[in-house]
Amino acid sequence: MARVRHEDGGAGRSKVASVDRGLLRTEREESAIEEASLRPRTMDEYIGQSALKRKLRVFVDAAKQRGEPLDHVLLHGPPGLGKTTMAQILANELGVRIHITSGPAVEHKGVLAGHLTALEAGDVLFIDEIHRLTPVVEESLYSAMEDGRIDLPVGEGNRARTMPFSLAPFTLVGATTRTALLGAPLRERFQIVEGLEYYADAELAEIVQRTARILKFTATDAGAAEIGRRSRGTPRIANRLTRRVRDFAQVRGRASIDRDDAQYGLGELGIDPEGLDAIDRRVLTAIVDLFDGGPVGIDALAATLSEPRDTLEDVYEPFLLQRGFLIRTPRGRQVTRKALAHLGRSTASGGGGDQGELPL
Ligand code: ADE
Repeated sequence: MARVRHEDGGAGRSKVASVDRGLLRTEREESAIEEASLRPRTMDEYIGQSALKRKLRVFVDAAKQRGEPLDHVLLHGPPGLGKTTMAQILANELGVRIHITSGPAVEHKGVLAGHLTALEAGDVLFIDEIHRLTPVVEESLYSAMEDGRIDLPVGEGNRARTMPFSLAPFTLVGATTRTALLGAPLRERFQIVEGLEYYADAELAEIVQRTARILKFTATDAGAAEIGRRSRGTPRIANRLTRRVRDFAQVRGRASIDRDDAQYGLGELGIDPEGLDAIDRRVLTAIVDLFDGGPVGIDALAATLSEPRDTLEDVYEPFLLQRGFLIRTPRGRQVTRKALAHLGRSTASGGGGDQGELPL
């Protein structure tokens, strides 16, 4: 079992919540222990991402056979898909400790040095939101990753200098929402670069069943399928919806979440049949009503919605793109016919919307 050290006192992790629809923050505060108990701890328990698991299993076995630390791993993908969970599983399967921090929490080189010098041979250092490291910190990570060395400051005043310090061999696991956010020098220092994909509805249904069981409740196959289908391809959202739908079902005196309970609870939560929530619909409606259906630049859209650009790009947009509600054109984002139909509009309002040009 991997031993976990949260090295940043949670400060960096609340930053994750800011691009994560507030789910992470509130859920963590509400039920940190419960959340931890929902996380799968082994590759076998982990549902979905089967191609990724197959590869990582081989890399872990090979490193263990050689008695070497696993090569540095970069995991990328939208929030909530299980990057942190996968890092913990890697440490667990390697039989080493994991030290957890995040880009914003590593404020200066001294903080990084503290993390690196605390590592024992083979340990995993997990840096969430690694794209948010400052350039100075990022640069000192290079020598740590490549040469297992970090330069520590010694002495003061005009006698101040740096001394190289040898680190125990370790594995860096970095997580980022998009590899494009990372400069080439850092990206190229990872020998293993893998993406996490949105989950299939059937996988999410399985996760809902597992979560309901851990929460000591049950869901029928149809109930779990309904929650899974409306979870935006994201286990963290499936888990949050399962908890909330359980509340509705329990208060209605139901023994198990069936399809009707799921539909009722999800309706109350403002999750529509396509799994879009109020903010997704606000994004689409703003493009239709204020920008004639698009194309609109991401900055104009972010300003209109009073949402940070990063949040739009990392959290809302990937799902809307993946499900065909939105397309990206060289001139900006544009809604599709499917989005118009979903919003119950036959055409974009406003003067210039030419329905003939709208993508399918
Ligand atoms: N809980 C959250 N993500 C999960 C996953 N991928 N498999 C099983 N349980 C999960």
